[in-house]
Amino acid sequence: MTRFALEPIETGSIDALRALQLQRLKWSLGHAYDHVAHYRAKFDAAGVHPSDLRTLEDLSKFPFTTKADLRDTYPFGMFAVPREQVVRIHASSGTTGKPTVVGYTAQDISNWADLVARSIRAAGARPGEMVHVSYGYGLFTGGLGAHYGAERLGLTVVPFGGGQTEKQVQLITDFKPSIIMVTPSYMLAIADEFERQGIDPASTSLRLGIFGAEPWTNEMRAALETRMHIDAVDIYGLSEVMGPGVASECVETKDGPTIWEDHFFPEIVDPVTGEPVADGQEGELVFTSLTKEALPIVRYRTRDLTCLLPGTARTMRRMRKITGRSDDMMIIRGVNVFPSQIEELILKRAHLAPHYVCEIDREGPLDTLTVRVEAKSPDQSSGSEAAGEQVALEHAIKSLIGVSCRVRIEAAGAIERSVGKARRVIDRRPR
Ligand code: DLL
Repeated sequence: MTRFALEPIETGSIDALRALQLQRLKWSLGHAYDHVAHYRAKFDAAGVHPSDLRTLEDLSKFPFTTKADLRDTYPFGMFAVPREQVVRIHASSGTTGKPTVVGYTAQDISNWADLVARSIRAAGARPGEMVHVSYGYGLFTGGLGAHYGAERLGLTVVPFGGGQTEKQVQLITDFKPSIIMVTPSYMLAIADEFERQGIDPASTSLRLGIFGAEPWTNEMRAALETRMHIDAVDIYGLSEVMGPGVASECVETKDGPTIWEDHFFPEIVDPVTGEPVADGQEGELVFTSLTKEALPIVRYRTRDLTCLLPGTARTMRRMRKITGRSDDMMIIRGVNVFPSQIEELILKRAHLAPHYVCEIDREGPLDTLTVRVEAKSPDQSSGSEAAGEQVALEHAIKSLIGVSCRVRIEAAGAIERSVGKARRVIDRRPR
């Protein structure tokens, strides 16, 4: 089989997939129960045993796992194999307190490389192409996750990592990669740097961008595709479940990431009650790993909001493109607002650049929202042009999202750039 042919499971029958999932789920729950004291205690307290799982639906009887479980067992208490069998550690920084630590056996690393290779192939890449990786290397799963997958598919990898934007542009210009893997917000910063150097970002060798690690809208997709003259596809993942490549979009449909269901069983639950909801209904995404050895994860609450959709380009189900995390939801005077809703409206306005941040303050008893956004060109960042943009965006946000806010149009470069995940919300309200 050539390396770019699809794996049989990607297009096999649903029945075969469900049977494989059930078999693997039984193994995974047993593995967690037998080798992780924390899981055993939680299952026992909930009165469930791995042998209670007879159908996939039985999974809902088992307790959830959250970030708190990983923190409580910091650093290695959730590992199901002796530390000596763990060949790699990653960790996510987290805004407060200790990082969340995850581990991989050699087999886990190999499966992860296979799944990222599958993701990159689904995005349209072929062996022999060159990929420039600008996801951060190190404890973050983005860089090394992308790297191993790209090598596994047979690509030439340029392991750049994040930062040094000028040099990114130089190497993309000199090496002529056809693919880039980077957060969509940092892609914008790289595109700006091309322009600053007098190079049209649409004229580069890049034909494909594989973007993830943060929410981004279809409007952002369209903007990146036009500006860079590329296909922009979405790759999803989280360190607790593996890293990048838990789900990934197929270039032929671009209709939300296909979940690699042979390795991860997805559920959607009501974020408040925890009750499972039907496919198609929105809620919080929950994952159970089916093959992971070092860190089996049972019903992990991702806090990502989406819904499950039937497969299109593959047999496996898709998730609707994630446009928000429950953590990012702003509640402004009773109205729920996600940064992605603001992003959509900004991208509809020709004179605004997609660099923005939402700032929340408390003035007296009231919460206020200020949206700071950059103008595309200097003559639009002040004077009557800016005033017009400001009023128009405030009006659009009020009428389409239902919240009054202040818009501040700023000069290019005024919004802080990140070299990885963009920070879209700054909440200055007293705790
Ligand atoms: O961000 C893994 C990753 C690296 C995915 C590179 C894709 C590309 P964490 O740092 O643990 O792992 O953050 C995971 O990031 O729960 C989502 O909230 C968000 N996220 C990741 N991918 C997407 C995406 C990596 N495609 C958290 N769309 C997840 C929206 C995403 N949000």
